[in-house]
Amino acid sequence: MPDAEQRASALFAATFSRAPDGRARAPGRVNLIGDHTDYNGGFVLPMAIDRDTELVFRSRQDSLVHIVSEHGEPAMFDLDHLSHGDPPWAEYVRGVAWAMDVRDGQGWDGAVASDVPLGAGLSSSASLEMAVAEVLARNQDPPADSKALAVAGQRAENDWVGMECGIMDQLTVAASLAGSAMLIDCQDLSIEPIPIPDGVVFVVLDTATRRELTSSAYNERRATCERAATDLGVRSLRSIKVQDLDGVADSLDIVASARVRHVVTENDRVVRAAGALRERNLAVFGELLNESHASIREDFESSTAELDMIVDTAQRLHGCFGARATGAGFGGCAVAAVDADSVDAFRAALIDEYNRRSGLEAKTFECRPAAGSALIPIGSAED
Ligand code: GLA
Repeated sequence: MPDAEQRASALFAATFSRAPDGRARAPGRVNLIGDHTDYNGGFVLPMAIDRDTELVFRSRQDSLVHIVSEHGEPAMFDLDHLSHGDPPWAEYVRGVAWAMDVRDGQGWDGAVASDVPLGAGLSSSASLEMAVAEVLARNQDPPADSKALAVAGQRAENDWVGMECGIMDQLTVAASLAGSAMLIDCQDLSIEPIPIPDGVVFVVLDTATRRELTSSAYNERRATCERAATDLGVRSLRSIKVQDLDGVADSLDIVASARVRHVVTENDRVVRAAGALRERNLAVFGELLNESHASIREDFESSTAELDMIVDTAQRLHGCFGARATGAGFGGCAVAAVDADSVDAFRAALIDEYNRRSGLEAKTFECRPAAGSALIPIGSAED
């Protein structure tokens, strides 16, 4: 199949009669470790992946946006009069325009195609949002920085779409560097690139399950964490340290204290995992991934039977340093860190074993750490 850039270009040519001005490219992301920590002011260690959403566009003379997608009905709206509407996928597009407050904005025609699997926990929506943000910011002087674009994308999700997500996905998609995972401090949004050592490959393991209620379960977990922070008298759970956990258990109910234990121990694991990668200690790094999954399963309870099964299968296979559910959870994908020399055998054995145990059909994707989103004028060197 042609890649997303070729498909978006073909869709643009088939829909609009004029040549495009340029394109925006935005990757998906996989989170290596640190889930449900971002909205608690904590640490995450994700990387952008080598699968992109591509948005080919041409500016218009009016304030209309006309956008077509290979995944749904076309949408047309006015940047000067934004309101909610169909099709549902275009809510992300309108939401970003609203969050960036592009008043008197110049409209555009666009065609979008994506190689980021939808609904799998690889941030297909954040990658669409950042591609759109790149196009909306195309005339800004000085150019918008990636943090500003990411914050607008998060606002679109929180206040337009109604998903109370943190900043991890948008910031990773917008600001990543090729070859590195990003250690993000979600309290001050500082980022430290952590180079991925040779010899390890990240394999995304898709359980072939999707949960309809992800956003309500997610919003409920977030509300529990925020209530717990209030009850503990702190601004965010980031302030609680591992050594404070005994005291926490005395002042919260059993469910809230388990959620807090996950967040607090996960923050500690993220920092140690980044240290292990810096030292190229893949055994320690992998052990932390395994511990993270146990915490997601037992304390945060955002895993599922299928995620537990695929993670357990991966962890037992030769060449696997460690594996865990990744992203919001409640279905979707896990990630495994695998010895580069064993990756083909690992993928074959994982699919065999998981499909036999679950009766489902797993998919696996090998991911390389890629660069964040960019705007590429037609005819430029990168084009
Ligand atoms: C989703 C959200 C992120 C983050 C993860 C869980 O991907 O969009 O902000 O909270 O879940 O770590």
